[in-house]
Amino acid sequence: MDILGIETSCDETAAAVVRDGREVLSSVVYTQIPLHVPYGGVVPEIASRAHVEKIVQVVREAIGSMRVDAVAATYGPGLSPALIVGLNAAKGIARGLGVDLIGVNHMEAHLHTPFLVDPGDDSGSVPRPEDAMPALGLAVSGGHTAWIDMPEYGKYEIMGQTLDDAAGEAFDKAAKLLSLGYPGGPKIDAIAREWFALHPDGGDLVPFPKGRPREGVSALAGLPAELCVSFSGLKTALLRYVQSQGGADALVERGEIPRVVASYQEAIVGAVADRTRAALRRKSRKSLVVGGGVSLNSRLRSALARVAEEEGARLFVAKPKYCGDNGAMVAALAYFKRTPAGEAAMSLDANPSLEVGE
Ligand code: KG4
Ligand code: ZN
Repeated sequence: MDILGIETSCDETAAAVVRDGREVLSSVVYTQIPLHVPYGGVVPEIASRAHVEKIVQVVREAIGSMRVDAVAATYGPGLSPALIVGLNAAKGIARGLGVDLIGVNHMEAHLHTPFLVDPGDDSGSVPRPEDAMPALGLAVSGGHTAWIDMPEYGKYEIMGQTLDDAAGEAFDKAAKLLSLGYPGGPKIDAIAREWFALHPDGGDLVPFPKGRPREGVSALAGLPAELCVSFSGLKTALLRYVQSQGGADALVERGEIPRVVASYQEAIVGAVADRTRAALRRKSRKSLVVGGGVSLNSRLRSALARVAEEEGARLFVAKPKYCGDNGAMVAALAYFKRTPAGEAAMSLDANPSLEVGE
C-alpha cells in the first residue's frame, strides 16, 4: 500500500510516498528556514503563506508518476495556520483521487522515523516497529519535548514533558540572545563540539540549572517532576549570565562564547538524558525510540546512547535526514495507525494542541 504523506505543521513543506509504512519511495522537504532567519524564529503567518506557495510543487514532486492508495496529513500539534494548509491540500487530493484520507499526529509520526527504510538499505538491519516494542519514546524537537510510553505499537501515554519551552526552542532562544543565528540548535551543536574537542573532560563549564521542576507545582498536571523539564529558568540564567559579563559582544571579544554555549547545551543534554534514565527506570522498556530535530544533536545522541546501554534498552534514532520534519514519517505512521480515516478524517480540523494517543 503506497501512502502519500503531507506535513506542514511548522516551517517545512514536505510530502513523501511510503510503501507499507516502511519503504520511502520519495521524500521532498522544502524548508522555509531562510524566510524566518530575519525574525530569529518561525513567524506563523509567513509559514502559512509559504506553505500555500509551495505545497502543490512539493506534492507533485513527491508523487511523480506514482499512484497512491491513500493520503495522510498531519493535523496537529503545530501552528494552526500552517497545519490548515497541508490538511486542506490532503483533503482535496484524497477527494480528487477517490482514496481515503488519514489524519496523523505529528509527535507520534516523529517516533516512527527510526523505522523508515530507504531504497538500497538492507531492510533486515532496520527493525520493524512492533519488534522494538515495548519502548520508551522521546520526542525532542523545536515544538516538543516529551517522554512517551509505548507499551505496544500505536499505543502512547505521556510519562513526562516540558512544562514550558521545548528543547529546540531553548536552543533557538539562546542562539538569538547570543546573535548566533537561526535555527540555534545546529549552530550551538557545532560550537559546543569544538569546545568539547579541546576539553575532553568537559572543561570549566558555567553551572547552568538543569531544568528540574519543583515537586508539586501545578504545571506538572499530575506528571512526576522527575520525568519533566522546565527550560524557562535556564533561559533566564543565560540572560543573567550574559548581562553579568557585560553583554554578548563582550563575551565574543573575550572568546568566551564557546564555553557559554557548551555549558548551556550541557544543561539541556543533561536534563534530557537524566529524565530519560528516570523514565527507563520507572518502566523497564526494550527500546528507546527517539525522534525530532534535536535528536540531531551530537552530544545528546551520545548521552542517550550511554543511558540506553546502562539501562539495558536498545537505542533507535532516525537517520539525520528524517530527524527534522518530513512527509515520510506521516505516510509511514498512517499505514500502521489508520485512524482517524475516511469521512472522519475529512471532517478533521487542524488541532494545534493535539496530544499523543488522542
Ligand atoms: O523536528 P524539527 O525539525 O521541527 C519541529 O517539529 O519542531 O526540529 C527543529 C528544532 C529546532 O529548534 C532546531 O534548533 C533543532 O531542532 N535542532 C537541533 C539540532 N538540529 C536541529 N538542536 C540541537 N542540535 C542540533 N544539531
Ligand atoms: Zn516536528
